[in-house]
Amino acid sequence: MRRTSLVAALCAVLIALAFTAAGWARQRVWHVAAQSGFEAKVEYCKTCHGLSGEGYRGYYPIPRLAGQQPKYIENQLRAFLERRRKSPLGAAREAGAEGVMLNVAHGLSPAQFGALAAHFRSLDPAPLGGAPTEQMSLGKRIYENGLPETNVPACMACHGPDGKGGAEIPRLAGQLYPYTLHELAYWTRERGQNGAKDDVSAIMIPTVQNLTPAQASAVAAYVSSLR
Ligand code: HEC
Ligand code: HEC
Repeated sequence: MRRTSLVAALCAVLIALAFTAAGWARQRVWHVAAQSGFEAKVEYCKTCHGLSGEGYRGYYPIPRLAGQQPKYIENQLRAFLERRRKSPLGAAREAGAEGVMLNVAHGLSPAQFGALAAHFRSLDPAPLGGAPTEQMSLGKRIYENGLPETNVPACMACHGPDGKGGAEIPRLAGQLYPYTLHELAYWTRERGQNGAKDDVSAIMIPTVQNLTPAQASAVAAYVSSLR
């Protein structure tokens, strides 16, 4: 009798161990699968955002993600998902297509938001350049001092002296000139589009409303040159 219960106990232990081992094995497989899923996502992002996240100057400018603030990247991915931010590629096609980044964000898990943001944060390619250089000194002046006469705030006050941003405030340093220009011109049509959801994009409204196109061009050129 005693012997049988001993065998039973031993069996129970062995079975428990077998399950644990299977559990470990399964967890490892899941881990590897998630990892390769992540690598595949990074490769996917880079087909558009550039091999080092430097951005792409094509017919339609694709923003630099390299060195971008992780909190800002995560917030923008959520913004596309919650339709707070409209993709201009969709907006341009009046037919109601929602744009590429909504589809991209749909294909990601919340955990991947953080991992992707951390990945792009770690990249540091040189800025692509190519902005007009005539207005650099005006751009620098607007960036550092704003235009008090027309209520344009100093960009530096929020985006930092070197344009690196912080937390939900984006890095502007090295950002593509045509992309920054587009954001400044189309802000109220693309950002803050879902009033039911929290959104910090309204902070930029006084800036975008008070800059003239020439001033926007000058400051976009200046930040694109920052390293
Ligand atoms: C097919 C091209 C394409 C792919 C693939 C793509 N993006 Fe984008 N992404 C864009 C375009 C174009 C924009 C510019 C804004 C827009 O369209 O809404 C953008 C904008 C962004 C922004 C906002 C940047 C900013 O400065 O505000 C983030 C963040 C972003 N993408 C992250 C990603 C991540 C992460 C991936 C991969 C999982 C990815 N993108 C894949 C085209 C793409
Ligand atoms: C009061 C703080 C504040 C000031 C001043 C400010 N910004 Fe911003 N800016 C922000 C915040 C916050 C965001 C992110 C908004 C969001 O998440 O939608 C932002 C976003 C931006 C973006 C979008 C970046 C991207 O990758 O899409 C651009 C471009 C920009 N700011 C340019 C400027 C310029 C140029 C000035 C000065 C003329 C300026 N900002 C002044 C707070 C500020």
